[in-house]
Amino acid sequence: MTEEENTATGPRTAEEHRAPGHWLLARMGKKVLRPGGIELTRRMLSRLAPQSQDRIVELGPGIGRTAQILVSGPHASYTGIEPNPEAREQIRSILAGHHNAIVVEGDAQTTGQPDDSATVLVSEAMLTMQSEQDKAAIAAEVFRVLAPGGRWGIHEMSLRPDDVDPKVATDVSKALSRTIKVGARPLTTAGWTKVFTDAGFEIDWVDHNDMRLVEPSRIIADEGLIGALKFFNNVRRNPAARERILAMRKVFRTHQDHIAAVAMVLRKPNSIQEDK
Ligand SMILES: C[S@@+](CC[C@H](N)C(=O)[O-])C[C@H]1O[C@@H](n2cnc3c(N)ncnc32)[C@H](O)[C@@H]1O
Repeated sequence: MTEEENTATGPRTAEEHRAPGHWLLARMGKKVLRPGGIELTRRMLSRLAPQSQDRIVELGPGIGRTAQILVSGPHASYTGIEPNPEAREQIRSILAGHHNAIVVEGDAQTTGQPDDSATVLVSEAMLTMQSEQDKAAIAAEVFRVLAPGGRWGIHEMSLRPDDVDPKVATDVSKALSRTIKVGARPLTTAGWTKVFTDAGFEIDWVDHNDMRLVEPSRIIADEGLIGALKFFNNVRRNPAARERILAMRKVFRTHQDHIAAVAMVLRKPNSIQEDK
């Protein structure tokens, strides 16, 4: 067996150099893969407040940490739409035993869900990685799938302040993309607001948190002490992963004045005609 194949946590070194940052963190045992942590997710979900009659759709649930919260609470149905096959496998085990809860292969732009079929949509850390056109296409798809009055909870990376110098915004985006190895195109809160209002949504609620995804205190808060210790131990035993994660943390720290996490609850108007 080569040294590469013999790493403690399994994956080959070469893969760890090129894996998208969120999958690298997931392989090391991190379950919460969004910028504002489980704390901001909980604030967003408490504002969404799903009820027993709600038909919930989650776009890009990843390895299912939010799915777990959603299916443990009131819901009529839960559908996760996730393009990554390994992530779908993990979510399936989380959904097992919960009524009307499935995960399907799909894309946020073409969900395959009928018009007006969902009452609650959730997506976290998925829009930031989309181009401007794809963000707009996804917002339009969510608008189509949501029933009138339906709510959409989002949780994404944001740029600050709203009047951030465009050159700084470009530099931050490039630095993030280089280190996490996924196109990262965060917007200011005003920029996110425009994407959603252009698609026809009303803004119901907005909140922020610091972007501290790979800070030790946030990892403990997100994963619990035991989960965090497992994560730290996996990272310690895997030099390639450690190097990547430290590089990610360095970039996040360098740009901390300009990056944050934003959560919003958006509402599809009850009567589109009247609201225009
Ligand atoms: C950073 S991870 C976040 C996972 C999870 N939402 C969380 O916050 O922990 C991004 C997720 O979005 C999914 N994703 C990326 N592009 C997508 C698309 N076009 N449609 C649906 N999901 C997508 C990825 O497969 C991945 O699960």
